[in-house]
Amino acid sequence: MPWSTFDLEMMARAIKLARKGQYTTQPNPSVGCVITQEDKIVGEGYHIAAGGPHAEVHALKMAGEQAIGATAYVTLEPCSHYGRTPPCAEALIKAKVARVVVAVTDPNPQVSGRGIEMLQQQGIKVEVGLHQAEAAALNPGFMKRMATGLPWVSVKLAASLDGKTALSNGVSKWITGPEARQDVQRMRARHCAVITGIETVLADDPSLNVRPQELGSLTESIDLQLIKQPLRVVLDSRARLGGDAKLFTKDAPILLVSTQPYSQVVQAGWPEQVSHLQLPAVDGRVPLNELLKHLGQSCNSVMIEAGATLAGAFISAQLVDELVLYQAPKLLGSHGRNLVELADYQQMQDLPHLVLTDERKVGVDRRYRFTFTDPNK
Ligand SMILES: NC(=O)c1ccc[n+]([C@@H]2O[C@H](COP(=O)([O-])OP(=O)(O)OC[C@H]3O[C@@H](n4cnc5c(N)ncnc54)[C@H](OP(=O)(O)O)[C@@H]3O)[C@@H](O)[C@H]2O)c1
Repeated sequence: MPWSTFDLEMMARAIKLARKGQYTTQPNPSVGCVITQEDKIVGEGYHIAAGGPHAEVHALKMAGEQAIGATAYVTLEPCSHYGRTPPCAEALIKAKVARVVVAVTDPNPQVSGRGIEMLQQQGIKVEVGLHQAEAAALNPGFMKRMATGLPWVSVKLAASLDGKTALSNGVSKWITGPEARQDVQRMRARHCAVITGIETVLADDPSLNVRPQELGSLTESIDLQLIKQPLRVVLDSRARLGGDAKLFTKDAPILLVSTQPYSQVVQAGWPEQVSHLQLPAVDGRVPLNELLKHLGQSCNSVMIEAGATLAGAFISAQLVDELVLYQAPKLLGSHGRNLVELADYQQMQDLPHLVLTDERKVGVDRRYRFTFTDPNK
């Protein structure tokens, strides 16, 4: 469809607005909306937090009577069902808008198209697909989970120039500089869960929480009260974690996943934010696919912050969507720990296939983003 320059600009603005919600809308998607009359913006808004008004409702409130006969640009198909708030398609109909431009349809096959149909049934002109890829990229986790039931999986690793993630003795604090670590804090804040392996907990005793004072410039643009702490997930097949880990001192939810039971004595010492999931072992360890199915019941996206063993296991099982690699200008030496532990590949075509999607400087370090793709597709 040939879109006008004005249409392109208005949807780009709606996408920019939607991005403001990316730290606070979980498990809902980030959505933006702009309402125009002739060539003027009369209303705009974005979804701020789950349970609160959707983007369309904010924009319609601002537009008031000026919504009559207007065009609404929405980054995601307006919802058609009653959830914690009434359907947005109904609100647009009541406000008597004349045209709705939708960037991307709702990925849930049970919902997809219904919001559009509701609008069309009332004689509203609906056009779909403007800035579709950018709008879908706002919510990779929501798009994937609605379509497959599984969360989006990001692996974050910090490495030296020679590709090492820790010294031979396990020390890895700190490979990267403070700006990269702030960037990781923001990444945590965007994810619903942070997954780690028991060896990282035993070696580093990390907190794995979001620390508002370390979020950098973000603190000026969003309400920090609305940021949800991610669920901290520890994979501990043999139930080795004791009760004195620093994880337990932070007031944020923890899920311990094992294949063997914890002793009653250990369980008795857990604070109330701890829950436990026991899964049947596969090759003696936590089955990663089953774990993701479990987390997919409530999480759009999960972040792996583990050592080479667990990060490699997720990559080998082809469960990773994205690798975020911070590379520091350091050399840890040939005895340092590897980036990821993977199989001994014999053929080039068997290697995991990565595509670089973004590269930038973060303080003294560089950040690379890669997506994993199937080269046969
Ligand atoms: N540079 C970085 O970005 C970074 C990030 C994090 C950690 N680190 C460093 O990495 C080192 C620890 O790395 P690591 O490789 O030894 O440990 P890890 O990857 O953190 O944890 C591995 C452990 O996870 C458990 N696990 C449970 N289910 C698993 C599964 N399906 N597949 C694989 N593992 C599973 C296993 O123990 P059980 O069999 O007992 O369950 C396994 O030994 C530390 O020195 C830490 O400082 C570096």
